[in-house]
Amino acid sequence: MDLLIPDKAHDESRQGEALLLEPVVGKNNGRKLYIESYGCAMNFSDSEIVASILADSGFETTSDFNNADVVFINTCSIRENAEVRVRNRLKEFAGAKFKNPGMVVGVLGCMAERLKAKFLEEEKLVDVVVGPDAYRDLPNLIEQVDGGQRAVNVLLSREETYADISPVRLNSNGINAFVSIMRGCDNMCSFCVVPFTRGRERSRDAVSIVAECTDLFNQGYREVTLLGQNVDSYKWSGQLADGGEQLAVGDEVKIVNFANLLEMVALVSPELRVRFSTSHPKDITDEVLYTIAKYDNICNYIHLPVQSGNSRILELMNRTYDRDWYINRIDAIRRIIPECAISTDMITGFCTETDEEHNDSVSMMDYVKYDFAYMFKYSERPGTLAAKRYADDIPEVVKQARLAEIVAKQQQYSFYRMQARLGRVEKVLIEGFSKKSNNDYCGRSDQNAMVIFPVTEGYKPGQYANVLVERTTSATLIGRIID
Ligand code: 5AD
Ligand code: SF4
Repeated sequence: MDLLIPDKAHDESRQGEALLLEPVVGKNNGRKLYIESYGCAMNFSDSEIVASILADSGFETTSDFNNADVVFINTCSIRENAEVRVRNRLKEFAGAKFKNPGMVVGVLGCMAERLKAKFLEEEKLVDVVVGPDAYRDLPNLIEQVDGGQRAVNVLLSREETYADISPVRLNSNGINAFVSIMRGCDNMCSFCVVPFTRGRERSRDAVSIVAECTDLFNQGYREVTLLGQNVDSYKWSGQLADGGEQLAVGDEVKIVNFANLLEMVALVSPELRVRFSTSHPKDITDEVLYTIAKYDNICNYIHLPVQSGNSRILELMNRTYDRDWYINRIDAIRRIIPECAISTDMITGFCTETDEEHNDSVSMMDYVKYDFAYMFKYSERPGTLAAKRYADDIPEVVKQARLAEIVAKQQQYSFYRMQARLGRVEKVLIEGFSKKSNNDYCGRSDQNAMVIFPVTEGYKPGQYANVLVERTTSATLIGRIID
């Protein structure tokens, strides 16, 4: 899985963002919705689908939950602390509900799916619990709550992809957008709760994906990130006649794999950047790598979670590859796309991990020299294979020490990767003003590095700029536009 934000999922730095949406004009029902999302990019993308469904029923949004008639929280279960954060946030909603007893409070997403009706027993203020495949039912569920009941729909689906729903872009800068290409996950990584909360893997209609990307481009968007728990296993078959024109094959039914889909989206326009997340080491093919290499607008950046550098631990994790396989995939990326940035996810202190096995994770970091990494202590999740089979036996202090070690190591390599860009010219998609100053713009390089440079006459957000890199930190490139 592994969908971290901004390029993938489960970036815990992006938490609890309130999202605004416009009501569908003429259908306003006079009620206000507040929606907040936690966890992965898929959740943020799902909130845009929820927003679309509720805008169709006439809801207007508010950025203040105290004024809301309906308060939704779209939740994450990936680690225990993600759930703790949601519970704390619910306590904050309790005061508002006390003042306004008619307020509907709903829990959406992975925690809803994991805990189901139990949520209603545990959290008395919650009125509605809705899993990730049941969002079309939200207007009915809200009606049930209005009628004095509490409501639950946590049915998972083998088909639902929300392909026909046009997401309402929330908190959008009008430049980057997430496009969901598949849902669920069929990999049973033993530590992971996602297969239980998001159900079986299914791929979205390729024609609808290309149509959405084309539409975004026509609205002025310049970057799409294709989202799936395991994008390399994307597979859809159908007629492409109405889809990406360049690949149209009449009425012929064609199987579209991820490499084909990437190409179809890249062909929407050379001015549209294409990113994707997340790749799985067991499934990423050379065909995908050659497709990335072939198109300038498919960004040279791959998030390839390793989780551990040790083959025995990888087996216990049920990752279905070993250390050598992973290294082989890294070598293939370096060979086919020499300029490619690579990031990863790593877990420390998985069940029975010894110091030597942990050192294999450290040496993997030395081998790859990742541009970026998301690093976590193992957190046992109820119901997962690991929770059933293995004791969570690594003491917290050991997990913490191992985590601190790899975080420090990654800091060095992030800095090393940034330094390697010094004196080079990066093509940057300008996203807006930098966080610190309206005198500076920020944007991302092809390799996904954040780049800061002075606002320059003739350049606006949504345009590309060539930036000469003059300084770096371990997270940012700093420079100036050159013609
Ligand atoms: N404990 C710690 N980290 C986890 N992840 C997934 N499940 C767990 C868990 N139980 C991490 C993995 C995954 C990322 C999204 O979150 O590294 O790739
Ligand atoms: Fe990713 Fe594995 Fe979890 Fe699937 S089961 S979402 S591949 S970590």
